[in-house]
Amino acid sequence: MLYPQEIIEEVRLQNDIVDVISEYLPLKQKGTSYFGLCPFHNEKTPSFSVNSERQFYYCFGCGAGGNVYTFIMQMENDTFPEAVRRLADRAHIILPEPQYTQQAKEQEMKKQRLFQLHKQAGRFFYEKLHESVGEEARAYLQKRQMNINMQKKFGIGYAPKGQQQLYQYLQQQGFSEQELQQSGLVIQRKEGKGYFDRFHNRLMFPILDIQGRVIGFGGRILQSGEPKYLNSPETLIFNKSKNLYGLNFAKNTRKREIILVEGYMDMISIYQAGFRNVAASLGTAFNQEHAKTLKKYADSVILLYDSDDAGTMAAQRAIPILTQNGFRVKVMQVPNGKDPDEFIKQNGAEAFSHLLANAMHYVTFQIQCLRKEYDFTQTQQKVEFTTKTANILAKLDNDIERNVYTNEISNMTGISQQAIENEINKIINKENDVFAQSAYQKRNTQYYQKNEEVKTKSHGLFAAQKDILYLCASNIQVYNKIKTILSPEDFIEPVYQKVYEYIALLYQKNSTVFPAELVNYFEQQQQQKLVTQIFAVSSEYKTMRDLEKALTEEVKTIKRVSLDRLASQAEDIEQIKKLVIEKGKLDGLYITLADG
Ligand code: GTP
Ligand code: MN
Repeated sequence: MLYPQEIIEEVRLQNDIVDVISEYLPLKQKGTSYFGLCPFHNEKTPSFSVNSERQFYYCFGCGAGGNVYTFIMQMENDTFPEAVRRLADRAHIILPEPQYTQQAKEQEMKKQRLFQLHKQAGRFFYEKLHESVGEEARAYLQKRQMNINMQKKFGIGYAPKGQQQLYQYLQQQGFSEQELQQSGLVIQRKEGKGYFDRFHNRLMFPILDIQGRVIGFGGRILQSGEPKYLNSPETLIFNKSKNLYGLNFAKNTRKREIILVEGYMDMISIYQAGFRNVAASLGTAFNQEHAKTLKKYADSVILLYDSDDAGTMAAQRAIPILTQNGFRVKVMQVPNGKDPDEFIKQNGAEAFSHLLANAMHYVTFQIQCLRKEYDFTQTQQKVEFTTKTANILAKLDNDIERNVYTNEISNMTGISQQAIENEINKIINKENDVFAQSAYQKRNTQYYQKNEEVKTKSHGLFAAQKDILYLCASNIQVYNKIKTILSPEDFIEPVYQKVYEYIALLYQKNSTVFPAELVNYFEQQQQQKLVTQIFAVSSEYKTMRDLEKALTEEVKTIKRVSLDRLASQAEDIEQIKKLVIEKGKLDGLYITLADG
């Protein structure tokens, strides 16, 4: 943790969850709870609840939940420390300096040096472009119609011919051999000693991070040749899966809609044409990390990839990643197999704007792609096509959209709309079933995968663990009893083990357990959600006897599985015998609370 737990808790207490969430969405009060439309999934009737007493939110629709930090992390795509800083700011609390370890401090120093090094390298390339050696590169830029303003804005440069031009320049600037090597801008010779520049005789595109710092370069060859583009390797500061080219500029439009293209030149020429909300994924396939980065600045994406096979495939791969991350997605294609840059050069900004306005819903694009694979003169192929499209349509949350598309498919194939709808509903129901069981099982240890018997029981086990933890946190008498029987290792889910340990800690500290405070101890959103779920749907026991009965059954369930697991891992017979005896004793167990 970067900040002490007391500060984290103080910041949380100063940010009432109802106030904070109300800044993002309207809430209506019902008793101590507030309801609204869940911002994390599409819905028409409110199932998103915020409990002001417990300082929790929970969505009965999608299971999202947590304390005020979780909400901010989910909403703003913040890490835990970022959420702490954001809320400290909101409450005007001054945080202490983050407690970095020595190792983290050294790492940070190295990074700072690499940023400086890249800044200098960018300056070097920029100067070379404007010296006489840069003549050919300048002519190339002119041929590609990149104007002077854009060249400056994007810091375009030129890496001269020769072996050690950059190397020597950077050494003169005081960078060590080790730093040069870490930057990836020079390469160690295979034979003999020394280094040579990675880039020579190339047009240079500095790659900037979201704060506008140079973190790497892409270099384009001036004539034809291979490779057409050469990029910096991954380094301490350059992560290809996280950065999108041009996003540092695009974010300033505050449009929350981004045109996503494949290449440097496409990005710059769209920008030059006056569309400033554009970024490029730079040849690497668009992935989850890109999506997370983008989510901070946009809710809607227009995919504009080349219309060739590779581009179409890349777009198809990007779609599920984007939709899973909650983006609205459209696909735009440039006619006649041109790329966006060529299209703009030939047809101008207005024609481009027209294409943009006519970008299609991603489902239309997926159906189009699928359509090409089937021959409708054959009935069987029509059926297969329709079944596949049903799978696509089942993913749509919006009923109206789904209706439009089923109608379209029905017209295309002659299959009745009702039949298609039935098929879609079947798929949806099946998915809901799978979802209900899988969330927990997926996270489980190999033990579950191997052990069929446990697998079928795991749902009950899951519920038992949750309920026990809930009861332990709610009532110290229950906890004091349970702790004599269950140890943290008896819980299979690692998060639950930790919860059980923190309950002990919080009882020592406060003599009660505030669930919302307990959540502070977990840094990952997924963990916070699991913790919240323990408290979201609580069981109530009318009489002491009912409670004792439930505790007894649940403890038995948990302990049996735990003992089985220990037995399956045990190495000698004696140990197994002991475990079997212990398991046998469980039958006679009955938990009573009255005597404390
Ligand atoms: P221009 O020919 O300059 O217009 O390039 P483009 O932007 O049209 O590039 P293209 O569609 O060929 O490729 C899209 C993106 O993929 C480029 O911007 C690069 O980031 C990347 N790319 C293309 N060719 C190569 C290559 O040879 N090596 C690497 N590493 N990346 C490449
Ligand atoms: Mn191009």
